[in-house]
Amino acid sequence: MTLPTHVKLVEVGPRDGLQNESKIVPTEIKVELINRLSRTGLRVIEAGSFVSPKWVPQMADTASVLAEINRTENASYPVLVPNMRGLHDARAARAKEIAVFAAASETFSRKNINASIDESLARYQEVCDAARAHEMTIRGYISCVIWCPYEGAIRPEAVLHVAERLLSMGCYEVSLGETIGKATPGEVQRLIATLVERIPRDMLAVHFHDTYGQALANVFAALQLGIATVDSSIAGLGGCPYAPGATGNVATEDVLYMLNGLSIHTGVD
Ligand code: HMG
Ligand code: MG
Repeated sequence: MTLPTHVKLVEVGPRDGLQNESKIVPTEIKVELINRLSRTGLRVIEAGSFVSPKWVPQMADTASVLAEINRTENASYPVLVPNMRGLHDARAARAKEIAVFAAASETFSRKNINASIDESLARYQEVCDAARAHEMTIRGYISCVIWCPYEGAIRPEAVLHVAERLLSMGCYEVSLGETIGKATPGEVQRLIATLVERIPRDMLAVHFHDTYGQALANVFAALQLGIATVDSSIAGLGGCPYAPGATGNVATEDVLYMLNGLSIHTGVD
């Protein structure tokens, strides 16, 4: 068994965590949270989303958050962007990195972004072309990579198709969203084994929600197959408002504790 010697942690708490809080967290608390996270050595901290405030009111102040945080040199503060309007707002807020978010499930795609998978990919092609023209970096997400709250099991080939499309648009990495936290380690390894036949491991990240307490085991299962980028959320906050049943993300501090125990470097204190 060969595990990676270094792992990049992508902190998603200020976005995936706070988008799912029933009370809207005040801007100054978000700013303080991100500033404290920056001081831990985290190099990627998702700062929010430029989505419709009617769909996700919790993220409506993302421009103010970006304006007020202390941006650490060498750290990136990506923001989710669903369309050209979001890209425009992200640029105006001086975002340097965006994340586009697609799904491997047709029904989830419609529920989350009101578009079919094909429609969303066409939209993201335009977003990515414009983002690259402005020298922004682009991360890609795929939701429902193993289970969908509406359709049940999802085929790895459906994930591969979306992943290859996102990479062809210029995403430097695709994060595999296990949106409802239902998958177990064997299922995770089967998915990754299919994907790495066509996609380099260093272009894949894992993003586990933790509904059935499987997330940390799933992270370990991914590490065993050479995946070295892990999304996590401080205090295990998280969930998607359009994924019924999903609870928090795997907690950053728990992932870090495990990685420290395995002598895997993260640069995070
Ligand atoms: P729509 O209703 O089809 O969009 O929503 P529309 O183009 O018809 O616009 C409707 C209204 O929204 C208009 O305003 C637009 O101006 C406005 P109105 O004229 O009614 O006043 N609007 C916007 N406002 C601000 N920023 C924008 C924007 N775009 C339109 N960018 C849309 C389509 C994509 C906008 C909507 O479905 C949406 O915002 N969805 C976001 C859902 C979301 O954020 N989900 C959570 C993130 S994904 C996730 O958590 C999963 C992940 O963690 C991985 C995993 O765990 O699987 C990443
Ligand atoms: Mg998520």
